[in-house]
Amino acid sequence: MKRRIVITSALPYSNGEIHLGHLLEHLITDFWGRFQKMRGHECLSICADDTHGAPVMVEAMRRGIQPEEQIATMLHKHTEVFREFHINYDFYSTTNTEINRQHCHRIFHSLHENGYLETKEIKQAFCEHDKMFLPDRFVKGTCPKCQTANQYGDSCDACGSVYSPLEMDDARCSLCDNKPVTRESTHYFCKIAKDQEFLKTWVPAHTPEAIANKLAEWLNHTLADWCFTRDAPYFGFALPGTTDKFYYVWFDAPVGYIASTDEWCRLHNRKVEEFWQDESSEIYHNIGKDIIYFHSLFWPVMLKNAGWQLPRQIWVHGMLTIDGVKLSKSRGTFINAQTYLNHLGPEYLRYYFAAKLSDSIVDIDLNWADFVGKVNAELIGKITNIASRSVQMLHKQLDGCLGTLTSSGLALVQAAQQRSEEIASFYEQRQFSQAIGAVREIADEANRFFDEHKPWLQIKEQPEAARQVLTAALHLFRIIAIYLKPVLPHYVSKVETLFSETTPYSWSSTAALVEGRAMQAYEHLLGRIDPKHLEAITAEAKQV
Ligand code: 2FM
Ligand code: ZN
Repeated sequence: MKRRIVITSALPYSNGEIHLGHLLEHLITDFWGRFQKMRGHECLSICADDTHGAPVMVEAMRRGIQPEEQIATMLHKHTEVFREFHINYDFYSTTNTEINRQHCHRIFHSLHENGYLETKEIKQAFCEHDKMFLPDRFVKGTCPKCQTANQYGDSCDACGSVYSPLEMDDARCSLCDNKPVTRESTHYFCKIAKDQEFLKTWVPAHTPEAIANKLAEWLNHTLADWCFTRDAPYFGFALPGTTDKFYYVWFDAPVGYIASTDEWCRLHNRKVEEFWQDESSEIYHNIGKDIIYFHSLFWPVMLKNAGWQLPRQIWVHGMLTIDGVKLSKSRGTFINAQTYLNHLGPEYLRYYFAAKLSDSIVDIDLNWADFVGKVNAELIGKITNIASRSVQMLHKQLDGCLGTLTSSGLALVQAAQQRSEEIASFYEQRQFSQAIGAVREIADEANRFFDEHKPWLQIKEQPEAARQVLTAALHLFRIIAIYLKPVLPHYVSKVETLFSETTPYSWSSTAALVEGRAMQAYEHLLGRIDPKHLEAITAEAKQV
């Protein structure tokens, strides 16, 4: 049965560029989405830039431009990097659209009608110099619990305690360094505790176990009302009927998932309800473990109230480390995707991440030595070499046409074909490393067969026997390419050309035998990584 699926990545903020940590997530979405399409399902891969809120305003201020210019520049940069990394979103929007505003209002009205909203007067830090209420992260001072200096207004890095900026004696505005005053303002709160019992059963069924256990700590206490509005000046959407109260960025950001889908639907003469209301449709959110709180507590309450479908599953991945450390500017491990692309092609990283990824929430390490070793030994040495050696021999010493399969060649090809459902289920479960492992095993078989028969010697005395060996090796390579297509779409499109295919590979293309096929001349598929590029990446990352 043809499935209807929406898959999303977390929306990247418009205040900065895409770095390798972001990429890990966007690649998971891309691998999985491409796989589903190859299986013949309808799978919309959806994302957008997260354009609102204080961090974007501050970045625009720092650069002396308007927020609109900031978000336009970033949208261009983000989509360009995704394109260059072969990350294919069916729709990539921004949260600053009229459609998103309307979807926010619709959810707001539902929450209101269903009795989930309340207004309260709250005290906040206000900077009289900058004439604005200060977000907690814009206040610096000494931790009221352990007295460590230079901490943010919401939590202490040294002792981990959580507090309000008003509790800090020496609070300072991080924009102008003046002391903020306390001011009162009225804000909207969402009473998420009304859905506490619902969330207690929903969360464990829709998030990974380790995450559900963590959330259970919150769910076992009454959930605090969520303040989802902010005062002007704020770059975002004003609440209906107001000009000085805005939706907090974490309200309108996830709504962007629906709005971006809706934009796609309007372009394709479809209805957003088919994807976000119809119970047979499947929605998956792919996120990092740092933003699970918003996605599994507030977001389900918002969706449920407005009559939208809740996600089937929230996928959570670990964070990226580089050579064992977190992304850090001074160590040259805070690497923008563009910096990587200035020195190396996308296929290497796509392959490496796929070879490491599973559905686990543990952190993923990009170890540069391992990266070069793995890519050169596996993707080039084991896999690409099958094609380059075989096709070149076939063209140089024969007429470039495949022959027939011998019974031993056919047996190998059939064994590789029979792994189709096993490998499909690895992709389905996001066990990408296992999918790559299976592909590597097929490549090992192909290389063993090749080395055992030594077609480079055979070809002089028994050219037709050599042709049969090359035919088997190339059948195996073709099957490998099909299994790798979700991970290496551009590499595999060159393979499709090499095999003179008339239609692009789908998952079932492994079933075909291509005996007698005239191969195209070998065009370079991919070369080895020269480690000097890695030094250049690190050096450039330190400068950016
Ligand atoms: O953490 C972040 O980078 C946010 N911009 C993610 C938003 S995801 C969703 F809610 F839109
Ligand atoms: Zn200030």
